[in-house]
Amino acid sequence: MTRHYLMCRPDHFAVEYAINPWMDPEAGADREVAIRQWEGLRSTYEELGHRVSLIDPVEGLPDMVFAANGALVVGGRVYGARFTHPERAAEGPAYLEWFTSNGHTAVREAAFTNEGEGDFLTLDHLVLAGTGFRTDVAAHGEAQEFLGRPVVSLRLVDPRFYHLDTALFPLNGHNIAYFPEAFSPGSQEVLRHLFPDAVVATEDDAVVLGLNAVSDGTHVVINAEATGLQLELKRRGFEVVPVELAELRKAGGGPKCCTLEIRG
Ligand code: ARG
Repeated sequence: MTRHYLMCRPDHFAVEYAINPWMDPEAGADREVAIRQWEGLRSTYEELGHRVSLIDPVEGLPDMVFAANGALVVGGRVYGARFTHPERAAEGPAYLEWFTSNGHTAVREAAFTNEGEGDFLTLDHLVLAGTGFRTDVAAHGEAQEFLGRPVVSLRLVDPRFYHLDTALFPLNGHNIAYFPEAFSPGSQEVLRHLFPDAVVATEDDAVVLGLNAVSDGTHVVINAEATGLQLELKRRGFEVVPVELAELRKAGGGPKCCTLEIRG
């Protein structure tokens, strides 16, 4: 099925502050390489037949390339992001402004801290929501009320996997892949209960951000280095589409972080 994605070209990308353990401002990152890798991701989506819309990058917002964090869009309703760190605060209004000026009317400014699809992942009948590092658990309730979908709260416990989308991705509308150790014992039990047939990833795949992947139900766009997980996905019948995004990983992001899905 054709998807609609919102992306932001990393024209102002840099690693100049550290708000997660992947970021090292001393080491920095190469913007030209990041742009080239991001263009590869964008054309991958287009080659798969998906529609890609672009939001203008804003100078002084080096993490704006991580569009997933900009909002959560389900059934045409746009739940705005409210960022944890002041460094990224201005991205929330910038993304909301994109939605209002592109014809979206069901737009909600969030009262509680939440980082959009970084911490909210949508399946057919429910939305999985992360908390522990960024998104306030109160935002899970706010999103449930606004979207009219059940929201299941999950607690993240490993700072390397600070957003839900670094530890879990939906394979399709009813199943997931995830790295269990990123979650609290209770949340691991919840996931086992909801998804007995899930793809369980190893730490080797998780630490290359292999779980920061984007599936359209048939193809899985995934970091090239996550080779073990790719094998398992192929075994399960998915078409694996590896992408090279190592430069963006220096900011703690992968393919999914760069991709905000607009669900009509
Ligand atoms: N440097 C960004 C941050 O720490 C990376 C965001 C990655 N986005 C994501 N959806 N996990 O906020």
